[in-house]
Amino acid sequence: MSEDIKARLADLEARRAVVLAGGGEERIARQHAAGKLTARERIELLLDPGSFLELDQFVRHRATDFGMQNIETPGEGVVTGSGTINGRQVYVYAQDFTVMGGSLGEMHAAKICKVLDLALKTGVPVIGLNDSGGARIQEGVAALNGYGEIFRRNTHASGVIPQIAAIMGPCAGGAVYSPGLMDFIFMVDRTAQMFITGPQVIKAVTGEEVSPEELGGAATHAMKSGVAHFHTPTEEDCLHLIRTLLGYLPGNNLEDPPYVPSPDPVDRECPNLRHLVPVDPNKPYDVKEIIYGVVDDGLFLEIQAQYAANIVIGLARLAGYTIGIVANQPRHLAGCLDINAADKAARFVRFCDAFNIPLLTLVDTPGYLPGVDQEQGGIIRHGAKLLYAFAEAVVPKMTLVLRKAYGGAYLAMCSRSLGADHVVAWPTAEIAVMGPEGAANIIFRQEISQASDPPEVRRQKIAEYREKFANPYIAAGLGLVDAVIDPALTRRHLVQVLLTLLNKRESRPAKKHGNFPV
Ligand code: HXC
Repeated sequence: MSEDIKARLADLEARRAVVLAGGGEERIARQHAAGKLTARERIELLLDPGSFLELDQFVRHRATDFGMQNIETPGEGVVTGSGTINGRQVYVYAQDFTVMGGSLGEMHAAKICKVLDLALKTGVPVIGLNDSGGARIQEGVAALNGYGEIFRRNTHASGVIPQIAAIMGPCAGGAVYSPGLMDFIFMVDRTAQMFITGPQVIKAVTGEEVSPEELGGAATHAMKSGVAHFHTPTEEDCLHLIRTLLGYLPGNNLEDPPYVPSPDPVDRECPNLRHLVPVDPNKPYDVKEIIYGVVDDGLFLEIQAQYAANIVIGLARLAGYTIGIVANQPRHLAGCLDINAADKAARFVRFCDAFNIPLLTLVDTPGYLPGVDQEQGGIIRHGAKLLYAFAEAVVPKMTLVLRKAYGGAYLAMCSRSLGADHVVAWPTAEIAVMGPEGAANIIFRQEISQASDPPEVRRQKIAEYREKFANPYIAAGLGLVDAVIDPALTRRHLVQVLLTLLNKRESRPAKKHGNFPV
């Protein structure tokens, strides 16, 4: 090797060492003391060993105000590049809090935009690990513009490649909107916080006092706001769960999700399903028990588990194929649909449709949740999202009616009329315009009030209505239900249906886009 190339290589290594050192030992120690990993440690855990291909190590900021001309920002406060997860390509960026608090300046944003562009062009998922003090204050509008560039790219990539955000530290101000535009948000308990205006500003403006954790911690966003799709106790768990989620997803909207065969027999009978739904229509049960019983290996990745628990959404596999499940949960609010449940399910249905994931809808709902707050809160507008999402979806749509399927909620839960390709019911199904009690009160009101023993006549009329209408056979007689089955054969039946629907191709009239009822 010539002296010249030796010197150049030494120079390269010295420059690289500066970048790899990030904000330096002291700040890294502070990061660890706060219970957080560094950007590079996170990428290491997220990607397959040795697969990381880093980009833009030597990008530098161009700011000169507020002493910035004398400040070095190794890697510009964000580590970017590509790698693999279980052998499949992804793009990734990880903000480095040890470099100016991971704050986003013009060139930091440019690095993120480059990976978003590459992910979109090559059709692979992008994962953003967020840990940042927000817009780099010294850079002013150049930093703000950087956020806008990211938001635009997130929007254009929506529905084309899966976009995943993990929040592993602060994420404040407008910075929250890049994760907000992505498909899934993961948060780490205690160390992650997301808010648009922080506790100090809130106190100054409204007088309300609130801790950062209560305002925008992982628990708040998982349970109250619905912003977080997943939250985990540690960063390691978070990165592991991102890998699990990606295992269910295709790289882009033109691919099918990965096929993962399982040893679980496709014709496995599930006799316990015969006893899970109580005969008494007012008794609750856990719909997740049915999901576990039916899907491959009982594995179900629930999404937004603690938010709007009256509806359950998540991913699983059937005969090796990824499916998206939407299910009423009779254990919460009797499985009623409300504003938050409609929002939660509608967004998930649209995600599944965008990424070629067949839908399985499990129905047991008495209807929409009655209440002034629901009506005035816009249940009409929010409920319409679910109708729109199911009617718009062109992926295979299978619906299983377990018990109650009443009125508008029956329609909203992917009924035949909304375009279900296959509707199957258990013998316990009750498909009717409303529950027997309500129906009897209305249509037999006179007879009941004029009877010598009104409660007895009322009981008789309810029984009469139940006998006549609260079953699956009226709907089956009209061809609105394709099959009524023994619950024990549910897995076998759904596998057969899915296999027949896999090649489904359906298209809608060409248009710029619909006007989704947001
Ligand atoms: C420049 C920043 C910074 C920022 C943090 N730092 N945030 N530098 N711009 N936005 C620097 C700090 O000066 C410090 O530098 C280092 O990062 C670590 O910060 P600390 O404050 O020591 O850390 P910590 O105590 O953990 O507090 C973290 C924090 C706090 C809560 C995030 O730093 C903070 O409040 N930062 C400002 C947040 C903010 O107001 N951002 C602008 C939001 S407006 P040294 O050299 O001491 O290590 C916005 C608009 C976007 O984002 C709109 C988009 C549409």
